[in-house]
Amino acid sequence: MTIAAETGTAAASVQGSDRAELPPIPEGAVMLTVKIQRYNPELDDGPHMESYRVPAQPGDRLLNVLHYIKWYIDGTLTFRRSCAHGVCGSDAMRINGRNRLGCKVLVKDLIGDKRNEVTIEPIKGLPLLKDLIVDMEPFFDAYRAVKPFLITYDNPPTREYVQSSKDRDRFDDTTKCILCACCTTSCPVYWSEDAYVGPAAIVNAHRFIFDSRDQGAQERLEILSDAEGVWRCRTTFNCTEACPRGIQVTKAIQEVKRALMFRRV
Ligand code: SF4
Ligand code: SF4
Ligand code: FES
Repeated sequence: MTIAAETGTAAASVQGSDRAELPPIPEGAVMLTVKIQRYNPELDDGPHMESYRVPAQPGDRLLNVLHYIKWYIDGTLTFRRSCAHGVCGSDAMRINGRNRLGCKVLVKDLIGDKRNEVTIEPIKGLPLLKDLIVDMEPFFDAYRAVKPFLITYDNPPTREYVQSSKDRDRFDDTTKCILCACCTTSCPVYWSEDAYVGPAAIVNAHRFIFDSRDQGAQERLEILSDAEGVWRCRTTFNCTEACPRGIQVTKAIQEVKRALMFRRV
């Protein structure tokens, strides 16, 4: 089904909400065909694609395009988002087949072919709830399982924990994780083997395993050495390519594997 935003003056037919006036089409806008996987568990037997024609400026974020569809064309379209600036990690989705954050992808990076077409689907490997929303609980279960918090057994110091910048550098990269799940849901092992903890959980374990102030490294390594842990990784690098924060995910996994092999962090 194709639903078009026709003119800048007509009232749009908005499903699921009040009619809304379409905003004027800005100068320099291109018409984008946006194909979105839709699924309403109360109405549909399964997911299907729907198409929308949306005016967008090259500098718009794809999240703006989704807002346009929701606000002016079909108010039932459902997706997660919060910060709109690549910080909260809530709008991971498959954009033209690649896991990305909707708020970090610009229209100008999607257009260029003659059709100005973009396909948006939910991330894979997690249960589909509605439209672009998946159930994130299995992802957060794996995250919680690796104890992603500082563990200490000695008496607390009388002043702050001191750490050299060299020690801080060991886990600097993995502190950048925003738990968006782009990595885990791009991992072919995670798609096929339910039990694998996935790269995001390992990244967050790495962040504490290599922190000189932490004393829980061996507990986490024990968790990650079992059948659901790091050894399932096949080093295919999908996760590193998918990470919107540029974290060297596969490198972090390799460092955890090495720490396990040599029992040393
Ligand atoms: S490197 Fe490992 S964790 Fe990352 S996508 Fe490949 S198999 Fe999955
Ligand atoms: S490692 Fe990167 S892709 Fe994976 S959850 Fe963290 S920020 Fe997202
Ligand atoms: S909306 Fe927060 S990261 Fe995209």
